[in-house]
Amino acid sequence: MSFPSGTWHRIDCVQSWLILILLIAVLPAFLGESYFNQQSYSLTRSWTPERRELDYLRFIGASDQTAKEVKIFGLADFLANRFKRLAHRYVLANKHIAIRRAGWGAALGLISTAAYYGAYILIIQQTIAGIITIGTLTFLAGSFDRMRGLLQGLMSRFSTIAEAALYLQDLFDFFAIQPEIVSPKNPRPFPNPIREGFTFEQVSFKYPDTEKWVLQDLDFTLQAGEKLALVGENGAGKTTLVKLLARLYEPTTGRILLDGHDLREYDLATLRDHIGIIFQGFSKICVTCRRKYCDR
Ligand SMILES: Nc1ncnc2c1ncn2[C@@H]1O[C@H](COP(=O)(O)OP(=O)(O)OP(=O)(O)O)[C@@H](O)[C@H]1O
Ligand SMILES: [Mg+2]
Repeated sequence: MSFPSGTWHRIDCVQSWLILILLIAVLPAFLGESYFNQQSYSLTRSWTPERRELDYLRFIGASDQTAKEVKIFGLADFLANRFKRLAHRYVLANKHIAIRRAGWGAALGLISTAAYYGAYILIIQQTIAGIITIGTLTFLAGSFDRMRGLLQGLMSRFSTIAEAALYLQDLFDFFAIQPEIVSPKNPRPFPNPIREGFTFEQVSFKYPDTEKWVLQDLDFTLQAGEKLALVGENGAGKTTLVKLLARLYEPTTGRILLDGHDLREYDLATLRDHIGIIFQGFSKICVTCRRKYCDR
């Protein structure tokens, strides 16, 4: 096939326009999708406490462990209503985004469709004007359609991956959290047997992100071999004191000594190996105690 001089330049021109139209056909929908993915993620994240509460309400409303209390105290309606109210608010917040997403999706879809037909009109015009042949028209129209399909597929996959990456980042952030209570680099050998016992020196403690002092200026020694009962009203800080002893938390001020040395100087795992605690809110771990579990 031979073209008059200058025809190639005009076909190039048509192709440049087609590429621009192609971008107009796929980009707005992609950008819209990315924007609403971000919005959905932000909503899910900002509703984390409420979503946890919903899970918790579902658990206490339907668990065999809480069935006694739910029945005796007639909690079923209270739990169901609370769940309904919270779930309704969450549905409304999601609905708002879903409606906007659908509206914008339709509008941006229209731009894409208009661009698609615009490309056809352009190609047909160029054919009527004799710039391109019927064969080139068929070729260009087919290529444009395939390219649009491929690009849309590519961007849709990209947007799905980008959306998943938003949630994945939370997981990586979680893995990146470093424990604040760690063993020292060169731990002191654990006393065996313990000779002097535990000494609390001016120990005060607040739970993280709270204002209330749970323990204040606590000074006492628990001698080796001594039996000590701590008696106090609910919330006095008895369990907290035991948690400090096991280094589940660090004193906010003051220090705890074991045989005259700060607890922080000992290896954390060895310290916990030497302490046996049954907490009042103990957990039952429902697994069969086979050798392979016990040995780990
Ligand atoms: N993880 C926590 N975060 C914030 N505050 C807490 C936490 N655990 C306990 N507290 C608060 O610290 C205070 C002391 O609690 P703690 O459990 O040590 O008391 P307790 O003397 O063991 O009470 P009980 O007799 O009921 O077992 C209470 O006011 C409690 O609400
Ligand atoms: Mg307690």
